[in-house]
Amino acid sequence: MKATATANSNIALIKYWGKRNSKLILPHNSSISMTLDKLHTTTTVDFSEKYKQDSLTIDGSKVPVDELERVSIQLDLVRRAASTHLKAKVVSESNFPKSAGLASSASAFAALSLSASKALDLHFDNRELSILARQGSGSASRSIHGGFVEWSKGTKDDGSDSYGKQIAPQSHWSSLAMVVNVVTPKEKKIKSRAGMSQTVKNSPLYKAWLETVDADLDNARKAIADKNFSLIGKTAEMNALKMHCTMITTEPHIIYWEPDSVVLMKEVMRLREDGIECYFTMDGGPQVKVLCLEKDAKKIQKRMLGFKEVKESIICHTGGEAKLEKKDLF
Ligand code: PMV
Repeated sequence: MKATATANSNIALIKYWGKRNSKLILPHNSSISMTLDKLHTTTTVDFSEKYKQDSLTIDGSKVPVDELERVSIQLDLVRRAASTHLKAKVVSESNFPKSAGLASSASAFAALSLSASKALDLHFDNRELSILARQGSGSASRSIHGGFVEWSKGTKDDGSDSYGKQIAPQSHWSSLAMVVNVVTPKEKKIKSRAGMSQTVKNSPLYKAWLETVDADLDNARKAIADKNFSLIGKTAEMNALKMHCTMITTEPHIIYWEPDSVVLMKEVMRLREDGIECYFTMDGGPQVKVLCLEKDAKKIQKRMLGFKEVKESIICHTGGEAKLEKKDLF
């Protein structure tokens, strides 16, 4: 009744922002992501009668009982499927800062879903796993797969048609890279969950976001299939800016950018002027991720590390799917 799994984080090229059903986590729009090879979470789950309650340790620190709720709810979904009431001990380790806009919940809930279902001997296929992971964190539905993944918004009320599907495998575009720059490893103040619901409620630009996202999805699908770097870069950068415009125009404003983030975005524009083609994308946090070609990744990383604001810079490529591990964390 114990299993361990590792899942990679993913960065959306076409973002998910806003839910039509917040309990099941069903989005207003579909999204497309790139799974990253260098940022991952490993989780061991052990169900046993010896545990009186669920417990969670993240990166060596025990999480207080009142912060356990999201994980316990996710474990309940697995327990219900396996018809058991056994409590669980969960230990999780990520190799990057959590809640800082690096999609840590994506890798965390994907790894938790796979390890917990395996521990209770449930044989879920990737569609079922993605649906399970989605209910923990929307972006986790995409981290079940490697390569490039589309999470369809679906139309059904029960969410059975809203899950991640691989649209191109990990090996498809090996000359593509993403330079992930950490400007602050601090946890963000406003979690995506609260930010999204506020945006849907009162941003005057949210309607425009939804009106333009289908064209972005079409362009991204085409760009990935044809390995058209300029098209994926331009589409992803504009899509990220549009998402942030919806956040900025909510009341009270949600501005995830730090001054350092703006410095880096401008540097990406300067790099383009200097003939190095690259594009930025940002999520619910201040970090700036730069999409580029592998041949330019080191040069771009060097330029980024030249800013004292950049605490860490990691060159990533497309990563693989979530997988089971032979070695447990405890
Ligand atoms: O799944 P969540 O709650 O971590 O939300 C992710 C939201 C964004 O990272 C901003 C966009 C995305 O599609 O990953």
